Amino acid sequence: MKPTILLTGKTGQVGFELNRSLSQLGRLFAPEHRDLDLLNPGSVRGAIRGTRPQLIVNAAAYTAVDAAENDESKAHAINAEALALLAEEAKRLGALLVHYSTDYVFDGTKRSPYNETDETNPLNVYGKSKLAGEQAVRASGARHLIIRTGWVYANRGRNFLLTILRLATEREELRIVCDQFGAPTCANDIAAATTKILTEMYTQDRSQTAMSSISGTYNMTAAGETSWYNFGKAILDRAPSVSPEVPWFAAATQGRPLIAKRILPISSDEFRSPARRPLYSVLSNSRLSEIFHIALPNWTTQLQCCLAAENIDDALFKSAPSPGS
Ligand SMILES: NC(=O)c1ccc[n+]([C@@H]2O[C@H](COP(=O)([O-])OP(=O)(O)OC[C@H]3O[C@@H](n4cnc5c(N)ncnc54)[C@H](OP(=O)(O)O)[C@@H]3O)[C@@H](O)[C@H]2O)c1
Repeated sequence: MKPTILLTGKTGQVGFELNRSLSQLGRLFAPEHRDLDLLNPGSVRGAIRGTRPQLIVNAAAYTAVDAAENDESKAHAINAEALALLAEEAKRLGALLVHYSTDYVFDGTKRSPYNETDETNPLNVYGKSKLAGEQAVRASGARHLIIRTGWVYANRGRNFLLTILRLATEREELRIVCDQFGAPTCANDIAAATTKILTEMYTQDRSQTAMSSISGTYNMTAAGETSWYNFGKAILDRAPSVSPEVPWFAAATQGRPLIAKRILPISSDEFRSPARRPLYSVLSNSRLSEIFHIALPNWTTQLQCCLAAENIDDALFKSAPSPGS
């Protein structure tokens, strides 16, 4: 069965990659933001009822973690209220809702990877709004996959990789937080793994009952863990191997040389930001591996693939997830 798919957020990091990969799975509709605005319930209903998808993939979100502290109602409207509506419509159609959530639903007090069933306790407005979105999806009774990921980056969009490359062209010394730990995860690995899961679900012609049993929450991050400081160092160690003419790299550096010579570790207390972040938000991927036989590559491999991509399109093909062991 080739499903009709409705994708939101096609201009985002994950949505951009999904817009390419999901088109191979079924009939894909990916409306512009203005045509499916999560702040406008009428446009959400209109887009869903107009396309009648079997699969709704929500890659749209309010993701500005610091800005959310002063923009609570908008973050909540996009990340939670709109989710209730998407889930209600999915339930009405009998569609599967795939939704992305975050490691920031946790407070970071644990010191081993978080499981899907661990207690949540978000520290910031963004995390609270994402948790409320998860809860709305679960409460709706719609079949769903809630995919929690973290520290997402790509060679386009707004993210840590591109920020570090830009800063490295502006400053000789960079100070990076060294006491927050997570798993930097490349957007195209998330899209590739999601597409693999969905392809298996839809090409194996599973019954509604079998599909329902898969419904639930899954962590999906790169293997391994690191700090922002070590991630930053890894980026700058490898960056000189990227040709300055590669379009995404030239855009990130604006064609300027990398001049950063000293990378200094600092604590979260020294780097004041509006939103508090968990000190430890590594997620365990064992459920993903057990149920779907998927394991994303280690974060260092993902970074290498992302940097090695000649342009934004290549990244999708160079870094596919490997089967879990
Ligand atoms: N980024 C991370 O580090 C991170 C970490 C953990 C989890 N996640 C989750 O992973 C998912 C994908 O994140 P991402 O980094 O790919 O996001 P992103 O790059 O910030 O993209 C967000 C997308 O949402 C769209 N959008 C925002 N407001 C909208 C609205 N009112 N109506 C319709 N579309 C709207 C944006 O469209 P415009 O470009 O037109 O505004 C954009 O396409 C999200 O659920 C996010 O919470 C991300």
